[in-house]
Amino acid sequence: MTIVGISGSLRKNSFNAGLLRAAAEFVSPDTRLEILSIREVPLYDADVEETTGVPAVVQQIKDRVAACDGLLLATPEYNNSIPGVFKNVIDWMSRPPADIRRVFIDRPVALMGATPGMGGTSLAQSAWLPVFRTLQMRPWFGPRMLVSGAGQAFDAQGNLTDEKVRGQLKTFVSGFEGFIRRGKSTSD
Ligand code: FNR
Repeated sequence: MTIVGISGSLRKNSFNAGLLRAAAEFVSPDTRLEILSIREVPLYDADVEETTGVPAVVQQIKDRVAACDGLLLATPEYNNSIPGVFKNVIDWMSRPPADIRRVFIDRPVALMGATPGMGGTSLAQSAWLPVFRTLQMRPWFGPRMLVSGAGQAFDAQGNLTDEKVRGQLKTFVSGFEGFIRRGKSTSD
């Protein structure tokens, strides 16, 4: 089984990128968590789409997501919502609309997030839900993975070091894998 993971932060020592790296340590032996970079994704521009189409880097991300069994998003929270950098990627990926079925519809998706603040990215995670609804994805609503006070849970390089949070993440990853597997067995 393959899970594609995307972190919505470009910061070198990003807590969210670190959370995703740690999640990759916890997938079961028959599962691979493939982490994709969004660094080269340009800002969405309808004129670019019309003249030259979806950029190659976006096409590559779309193809990886279309081939995966589940999508795991590590979202920062900006101004109580989704960071524009991250939303921009999903917006590009949703073009052209004819590809939405292949890339998004019925695709299992899970959210997690880390912040130095107290809210644990709860508001950003809720802000993603209308996006998933619009793209007809299949969100996993297990116990939420909210990391608050991230400065204490990660080291200076953004590696997740807090044992309690690591344990929580392990349970979270295994819960999402179970959700994906249950969906596969009912749709086969
Ligand atoms: C933030 N941050 C933030 N944190 C939060 O918990 N709630 C919020 O509403 C915001 N708002 C916000 C706005 C903007 C513009 C920035 C740049 C930052 C802080 C944010 O959680 C912090 O920068 C994290 O370190 C971002 O995640 P990464 O880059 O460490 O993954």
